[in-house]
Amino acid sequence: MFQIRKSLLVALAASLVAVTTWLPSASAQDARAAQQVKLRQSAYTVLGAQMGLMGAMAAGRAPYDANAFRAAAERAAAMGNYVPELFPAGSITPSSKAKPELWQQQAEFQRLMKDMQGNVTALATTARGGDLEALKPAFGATGASCKACHDKYKAD
Ligand code: HEC
Repeated sequence: MFQIRKSLLVALAASLVAVTTWLPSASAQDARAAQQVKLRQSAYTVLGAQMGLMGAMAAGRAPYDANAFRAAAERAAAMGNYVPELFPAGSITPSSKAKPELWQQQAEFQRLMKDMQGNVTALATTARGGDLEALKPAFGATGASCKACHDKYKAD
């Protein structure tokens, strides 16, 4: 009995070695794609959190704090200008919500990125002025530019 189990284990170990040495580049590529997706989703999570902070103030659900709003807008602008770098070809995994079409429709995807970047940069500039009434439309335009891309290139 022990002998049989031992030989089974040896056979299993040998087949695992065979599989892993047979597919080294595929698994390295998978690991890289998983890391790229994780970084991209993390950057978007930071961006989304700043939009949440600003949105609560813009909608009057949280008291307006000009300094906190400005800090959030600056973090959002930094992330908004960073995310376009986080879509290298092949960076897709089952946990990614990115639609594969975005890599085939680069002109449109980049146009939507630039639109968002312009809006979030303008929002940060407006936030320096500290005028809540001026911030509301700038915030609304930024949110609309997020949605425009999500509607096309992000799965629900
Ligand atoms: C040009 C396209 C584009 C623009 C503009 C865009 N996004 Fe996204 N966003 C995506 C794609 C694609 C994903 C899916 C990423 C993935 O899962 O690989 C995503 C994912 C997200 C996620 C989910 C992250 C996660 O953990 O799964 C959040 C939150 C998010 N975006 C917020 C925003 C906000 C806020 C803005 C605007 C300030 C914005 N996005 C603008 C394309 C865009």
